[in-house]
Formats: sequence, C-alpha cells, structure tokens
Amino acid sequence: MDKLRIMSVFGTRPEAIKMCPLVKELASRPEIESLCCVTAQHRQMLDSVLEVFDIKPDWDLDIMTPRQTLSTITSKCLTGMDEAIDSLKPDMILVHGDTSTTFAGALSAFYHQVKVGHVYDKYSPFPEEMNRKLVSSIADLYFCPTVNNKNNLLKENITDGLFVTGNTVIDALKTTVRENYRFSTEELNRLPYGEKKIILVTCHRRENYGEPMKNIMLALRQIAEQNREVELVYPVHLSPVVREAVDKYLRGAPRVHLIDPLPADEMHNLMARCYMVMTDSGGLQEEAPALGKPVLVMRRETERPEAVEAGTVKLCGVVQDDIVTMAERLIRDSAAYTQMAHAVNPYGDGHACRRIADAIEWRFGLRADRPEEF
Ligand code: UD1
Ligand code: UDP
Repeated sequence: MDKLRIMSVFGTRPEAIKMCPLVKELASRPEIESLCCVTAQHRQMLDSVLEVFDIKPDWDLDIMTPRQTLSTITSKCLTGMDEAIDSLKPDMILVHGDTSTTFAGALSAFYHQVKVGHVYDKYSPFPEEMNRKLVSSIADLYFCPTVNNKNNLLKENITDGLFVTGNTVIDALKTTVRENYRFSTEELNRLPYGEKKIILVTCHRRENYGEPMKNIMLALRQIAEQNREVELVYPVHLSPVVREAVDKYLRGAPRVHLIDPLPADEMHNLMARCYMVMTDSGGLQEEAPALGKPVLVMRRETERPEAVEAGTVKLCGVVQDDIVTMAERLIRDSAAYTQMAHAVNPYGDGHACRRIADAIEWRFGLRADRPEEF
C-alpha cells in the first residue's frame, strides 16, 4: 500500500516551533510520508527555526515582502498552495494556530478537497480570531491542546474529530532546554544571571500597534531606569512597525539589551534562566509556566486562561502605570514573586506529537484504538 501523505503547512516563527517536532514524529512512522510546505510568511525567523530543528521543506512559497498586508499574505499563500498541493498530492494537510498562513492553508486544502487537521486552537483577538473560526469550520480533525480548547469547540457545535493532545510547544521545549547549554550569542553567556534580575521581554502583536505599543515601550524604559537590580533582555521582532516603536521609545535606556530575534533553542534556554517574562506573545505564555517563570502579559486580554488559573501568568494591560506597578511588585516583593514562580504544565506533557500522529493513523484506519488523550 502507498504511504499516507501528510503535509504540514506553516509560515511564521511560532507555527514552525510547534510544527517541526510533529513533522519529525510523522516522519518516524513507517506508514506515513511526512511532507513539509512552508509559506515563509516570515522569512528569516522561519528559517532560523528550520535550522534549529534541522528540517528541509519539500515546498517553499517564499511569499514575504516587508510590511505585507493581510490580504497580500492570504492571496499569495492561496495561489502558491495550488501548485504545492498539485505536486505533492497530500492525503491530509495539517495547519497550526490562527495566522494568515493557517487560514490560507486550510482554505486551499478545502478547495482541493483534501482533509484538514487543525493543530492548536484558542480564542484570540483581531485578526487571529477570524482565522481560527474559519479554519474551525473547514477542519476534519481538531488537535486541542487542552480540555478547555475542546470545550470551546463543543460550544460552537463542533463535535466530531476532537482530540485533546497537549500543546506541541512542550514537546519542542523538551528537546531544546539543557542545564549546561552554552549560548552562541556571546552576550547571553555574560549576563549576570544570579546577581541581577533578568527580565525577558518580547512584543509584536498587531492589536498593540500604535498607542499600546508606545505605552509598553515607555513602561519598559521606566522599569529599567528605576530599578538598578534588573537587566531587560529584549530580542526584537523583525517587523518594521515594532522596530520603529522600539527605536523611538526604548532604545538608549540603561540596563536594556536590544538584540535580534533569537534562534528557538537560545530563546528557550534564556527563558529557563531568566527571573521573569514580560510579553504579548502567545507562545511565551505557554512555555514560561512550564519553566516556572512568572509572566506579565502586556495586552488587554489573554487567550491562555489555563496559565492564569494556574497562577504563573498575569494580565497587566497596556497602560504604562499599570505595567510598571505590576512589574515592580514582582521585582521587589519576594512573596509575590514566589507565589507565581512555580512550574506548571497546563499545556502539555511533551507527548502531543505522538498523540496527533496516533490520531491521524487511527482516522485513516491504520490503527485499531482511538489514542489516549492528554
Ligand atoms: C504573524 C501572525 C501572528 C503571530 C506572529 C508571530 C498573522 C495575521 N499574524 O504576525 O498571529 O503571532 O506572526 O510572530 O498571521 N518580518 C521580517 N522577517 C521575518 C518576519 C517578519 O522582515 O522573518 C517583517 C516583514 O516586514 C513583515 C512584518 O515583519 O511584513 C510582519 O510580519 P507578518 O507575518 O505580517 O505579521 P506578524 O506581526 O509577524
Ligand atoms: N521566540 C524565539 N526567538 C525570539 C522570540 C521568540 O525563538 O527571539 C519563540 C518563543 O520562544 C515562542 C515563539 O517564538 O516559541 C513565539 O513566537 P511569537 O512571539 O513571534 O508569536 P506568538 O506566540 O505570539 O504567536
């Protein structure tokens, strides 16, 4: 019998970090041909992840241009996917999350009457929530990281093909974090980890463009200026909109290290060593709790309620004073810090990829039993 052809499609950094372990898991299955198609919605940041996980895509749409609009991304992905699907002839396409690549990948699979597996699912703000909803109505299989995610789909009357698997990002973390890790970015080896409070910062979301991002940058500046015991380490996203805000409001502040985006393994090991995290990233809210690091989320809302419930993630909003107050509490009040700094794993146990591959095999009749859920 011919092998089952499963094509993973992704294009941005976070999708890549969460899909690479799955591409490898699928490749290890004798009855599956694991194919990988990247849109390169992100170019350098995607390539960096591919390099860390040593994955060579079978197809590359190479769509990125600077300051790309949402419609440009979607239309270029759709056109490019036609050729990829015609050539690689997948039996099923896997997409991840809620980006424009995710939506376009699912839609072109639908146009080609190819089954769709949706890895990861959550509620999010503009524009991601619409992508998620649209993919939810197209998908055949749903790999939910948590029971909560599954319940959300049930509320939308999606009842078939749901599997709670855990989040593949925890699988990724297990392969990257090491106690004696040596950074290739020399500056990171020299940081005063025990002596000072290293705060890891990221910020990139479209919903924060404009006033919120300005407030965030000014808050970070104030925190660095007022607290001699901290060092802020901020790998800055390559988006020109983000870089502009950083240059205007944060660059030049004392105790702030503005660096280029880090390869995923460097990032994960830096997170494991830092004091706390301040971010608007979705992925960091899943990773930091697993490493026992408190997270302040610089957004108006979070789509990661599990980590908030577990006590390691707190929303601090996008108002300068609020951000500064909440950060300084964690910097100065050790009881408040200790309360948040414990490792929890609401997002997975590191076996999500195995469960997803099992579920696919089961769905295609290659395995008798429905896989155990997370
Ligand atoms: C996208 C996703 C968002 C995700 C984020 C992760 C959508 C709508 N948004 O947002 O959900 O959280 O990725 O980072 O899909 N750029 C480069 N090189 C790179 C990457 C980006 O130069 O390697 C620049 C380009 O100018 C690009 C801009 O960054 O136009 C923004 O990238 P884009 O993919 O449009 O949006 P993100 O804000 O990254
Ligand atoms: N990340 C990375 N290098 C960086 C910043 C982030 O490898 O310099 C990783 C991070 O550990 C997480 C993912 O990228 O796994 C999150 O991506 P991003 O914040 O771009 O997107 P989001 O999670 O908000 O969709």
